[in-house]
Amino acid sequence: MKLVISLGGSLITGDFTAEKIKGYAKVLLRINSTADKLVIVTGGGKLARDYIDIIKEIGMDHTAQDKMAIQVTHLNAKLMAIALNHVERDIANETIPETEKEIENMLDRQSILVCGGTIPGQSTDNVSAKIARSIKADLLINASNVDGVYDSDPQKNKNAKKHKTLTYDEFIKIISKNEQSPGKYALFDKQAAQIIKQQKIRTIMIDADNPEDIMKAVNGTHSGTIIQ
Ligand code: UTP
Repeated sequence: MKLVISLGGSLITGDFTAEKIKGYAKVLLRINSTADKLVIVTGGGKLARDYIDIIKEIGMDHTAQDKMAIQVTHLNAKLMAIALNHVERDIANETIPETEKEIENMLDRQSILVCGGTIPGQSTDNVSAKIARSIKADLLINASNVDGVYDSDPQKNKNAKKHKTLTYDEFIKIISKNEQSPGKYALFDKQAAQIIKQQKIRTIMIDADNPEDIMKAVNGTHSGTIIQ
């Protein structure tokens, strides 16, 4: 199975403890032991958004804000790679690729490839979807602090119901009104949604505050939303 995991920065820098980072590394290595290919794309989380806010206040444009945030995604990627290599020596790249071409070149060489953002104007979900397209992934897991896709905003409506499955078009319709700007790609990146639709990439949206939840998405025992 070829797998791409979009690991939200909120998960990495949420608790921000070595124990938690090691927890993700251990689960990811277990997943890798049965996978043909595993790519992990790390997001920027709150730290990226803090940088975005400051760069914005200084008066810099979206491109500058994105470029700064991309650096944070690379920091998180490097941290994840270090944790993976601590558990299993030399399994992951500690040199984080910066461009799509560099990612492409490293895909064949690495058992586990860890990367972050690439170009301004997108989120790491889009990096993940492009990689999933390139390697013809069987599954894309979007692991964040959101536990699935609801029929209304669960923050505002306590009766909101989570969708077990959605078609690509239903999903695209749900996210169509979402803002897409530096640090604001709530739920999913719209460009990424188009890619998973075109390439028919099965995608699972899960909350993975507990690292084991990523394993559950792989073996089908999760309680998130499947887009297919
Ligand atoms: P993300 O928005 O992907 O990280 O990247 P996140 O906050 O962890 O997202 P979730 O948890 O997966 O939803 C942080 C920011 O970095 C910039 C964007 O501003 C993005 O919001 N970025 C990231 C880019 O400009 N290009 C990239 O390729 C990736």
